[in-house]
Amino acid sequence: MDKLVVNNLSKSFAEVQALKAVDLSLAEGKVLAVLGPSGCGKTTLLRCIAGFEIPESGSIQVDGATLFDSQRFVKPERRKIGYVPQHGVLFPHLTVAKNIGFGLPKRTMSTEQIRHRVEEMLELVGMVGLASRMPHELSGGQQQRIALARALAPSPALVLLDEPFSALDAGLRQSLREEVKNTLNSINATAIIVTHDQEEALSMADSVAVMREGECIQMADPVTIYRHPADLKVATFVGEASLIQGRVTGAHADTQIGSLPLAQAGLFRPGDTVTVMLRPEQFVLSNAAQDTISAQVLKSVYCGHSTLVEVQISAALGNEKLQVRLHGAQQFQPGESLHLQVQGQAMAYAAEPGEK
Ligand SMILES: Nc1ncnc2c1ncn2[C@@H]1O[C@H](COP(=O)(O)OP(=O)(O)OP(=O)(O)O)[C@@H](O)[C@H]1O
Ligand SMILES: [Mg+2]
Repeated sequence: MDKLVVNNLSKSFAEVQALKAVDLSLAEGKVLAVLGPSGCGKTTLLRCIAGFEIPESGSIQVDGATLFDSQRFVKPERRKIGYVPQHGVLFPHLTVAKNIGFGLPKRTMSTEQIRHRVEEMLELVGMVGLASRMPHELSGGQQQRIALARALAPSPALVLLDEPFSALDAGLRQSLREEVKNTLNSINATAIIVTHDQEEALSMADSVAVMREGECIQMADPVTIYRHPADLKVATFVGEASLIQGRVTGAHADTQIGSLPLAQAGLFRPGDTVTVMLRPEQFVLSNAAQDTISAQVLKSVYCGHSTLVEVQISAALGNEKLQVRLHGAQQFQPGESLHLQVQGQAMAYAAEPGEK
């Protein structure tokens, strides 16, 4: 059974429609990443699920119980949802232990039980021994872990994390991502993690919901989101993309860089004009001229684990510029002549009106 079902959820602030009929569902023990540009409604969605905003319409169910619909509104403190808000994560005047114990029910738990639970949570997030520290005595990454411990302490049915790593440097971000994912898995927690970092969404989640202007545009597993994005905007938002005009011929599209096999050929008719999308790692550059397209290097950008090379294919083929991602530190000089091959299938999208 689904742990969380959000149906047709809408929420406005004055003239801003922050959520427009959002549908999503999440199975128990799974992690959903909500990905989208700033202002698209990610925090509003979490706050509606947590009960801090009252939607205009739609419904929210957790474990089959309705938390919100036109008849019902369950208060946030009765929802059993762990929430790590986007800003101001810890209470500055309370110790680590008091922060973690904050949401535990004082009426039903003894001081000793609370102390024990706090210790368990410190162990879970790898921070044993820091119970009496104040938040300002912790590093940013440690504060994030305590915020997570506080959210998980009351054993919530669902955990909502709003950009939990946004303030951290790349190294800490990477290690905390893994720790948080392991922590969530170890207690079989169901979680939503909001991010505008594509790599974070694709690497941490079982499924990804891409939002834009209050709408959920696509929800799918990370591979589908990256390889088969629902439209060109999703394609360019979730990763680098090269876009080339083409004309459909059966299961292929004829383009200036050859006839490319299409991933979803059945969607088009022969003769349709399409925009073809390729990911930078689908291109192979070489010095071998056999059956390949000649190209000239425009620029080469070293990115550490890979190099992004912008090439221009020969004028006779239409001067198309393409981005190619190469693994390792292989470098090319601007002006260098090379040959290019395409691997795998291309995604195609109906060309915008007015395009040929
Ligand atoms: N309390 C509020 N009053 C008025 N407008 C609001 C309020 N909260 C959010 N909004 C507006 O609703 C829209 C969605 O905001 P939201 O905070 O959900 O975006 P977000 O996707 O979380 O953005 P970010 O990535 O920058 O955190 C924005 O246009 C925002 O200005
Ligand atoms: Mg936000």
